[in-house]
Amino acid sequence: MTSPLASPITLPNGSVLPNRLGKSAMTEGLADKFDLPTPALMQLYTTWSQGGTGLLITGNVMVDKRYLERAGNVVLEDNNNLELFRNWAKQGTVAGNHLWVQLNHPGRQCPRMVSTTPLSPSDVQLDILGNFAKPRPMDQSDIEEVISRFITSAQLVKEAGFSGVQIHCAHGYLLSQFLSPKINQRQDQWGGSLENRARIIRRIIVGVREAVGADFPIGVKLNSADFQKGGFSLEDCITVARWLGEDGVDLLEISGGTYEQLSLIGVEPTDVRESTRKREAYFIEYAEQIKKSAQIPVMITGGFRSRDVMEQAVAKGEVDLVGLARPLCTEPDCSTKLLLQSMQSLDCYEDKLVLGSGFWGNNSSSNVIKAINSFGQVGFYYWQIIRLSKGLTPQPKLGTFMAFLKHMTNDFKLNMKRKFG
Ligand SMILES: Cc1cc2nc3c(=O)[nH]c(=O)nc-3n(C[C@H](O)[C@H](O)[C@H](O)COP(=O)(O)O)c2cc1C
Repeated sequence: MTSPLASPITLPNGSVLPNRLGKSAMTEGLADKFDLPTPALMQLYTTWSQGGTGLLITGNVMVDKRYLERAGNVVLEDNNNLELFRNWAKQGTVAGNHLWVQLNHPGRQCPRMVSTTPLSPSDVQLDILGNFAKPRPMDQSDIEEVISRFITSAQLVKEAGFSGVQIHCAHGYLLSQFLSPKINQRQDQWGGSLENRARIIRRIIVGVREAVGADFPIGVKLNSADFQKGGFSLEDCITVARWLGEDGVDLLEISGGTYEQLSLIGVEPTDVRESTRKREAYFIEYAEQIKKSAQIPVMITGGFRSRDVMEQAVAKGEVDLVGLARPLCTEPDCSTKLLLQSMQSLDCYEDKLVLGSGFWGNNSSSNVIKAINSFGQVGFYYWQIIRLSKGLTPQPKLGTFMAFLKHMTNDFKLNMKRKFG
């Protein structure tokens, strides 16, 4: 029997995705010192294109050079060097898949090494090991500028020949900061009610649609919830999903969490071990309500690891697309195997990426150990991305502490290269 994952899907604007597997965005850190795409990035996306995933979404590409999520981000803010982006669009679609660019602005989640004066709806600082400076609350002209930057970048994405664009409204970055009543404490038309908090996103979507025309796919990545007291809730998400459907979004990707609450990669606040089994498809329980409200195709991302679960979710209509991220770092061609039903499940390296147990473990109360574990886990995947970008095979045996060291060293180098050339 053919896998339900192998059936194509037509989006509201008429575009057809060849199958039900989507690569969710993963920041690559592969831009050059001018924040431009490199041959390494092209190699990475050719490998992923050949791996059979129907929809590839790039790692977050920034709309403003002054504010990055990390050094090594690609920036697309004007049409200088568009040829490099054209090349990326071409190399990343060699197998006939879609390649969409995820556009993002980090807001307060912009490392101090990149900016000591980040922007945010209000001046609520992100407190993680002193890595983020206190943000400046945005004034009306900052907000209008951000809106027009997203629109310009989306237009450039289309001009460069990518097959779609995704606006990043999740994971605690700027647009998700606007949605959160905890972070957005404004009293004007951009804060307060959900309608006001979502206004910037809706203005961006309407503007992008006008700029790219009716045929070009627009996606949005949204949190099902921030999982923080007083943050963006599931009820909020259900309402925003309806608005996005009405505003002409073609694909809604659902994730969850922020830097402060890493549910996006399955880290729960307490008792990780006990919840490990439950963690497959972290956000699927919210899919039905969100899908019903949005009335547009929905991709759920986070924790999908076994083919049965993916196939059932699609066959039952719970999700339209299955989003995968980390598995594509260690097995870039896993989609082909899933589609051919020659693979039952994907390796969960994330479960092994904890420094021992007790003192070193994820349950350790030490913030330093927790930070080493978090950066080590993310560093493990960054390292696999670097290897793929060099045409090498993944190195799944890399230990957490080594991954942590590699990540810190690479991050320092990227920052220095960007600052001093
Ligand atoms: C190394 C790494 C980089 C990521 N970068 C991004 C990003 O740029 N944009 C984004 O929306 N999510 C990003 N994510 C989150 C993933 O898209 C995804 O939501 C998360 O990893 C859960 O999916 P998974 O369980 O299949 O890995 C990143 C995750 C990892 C591990």
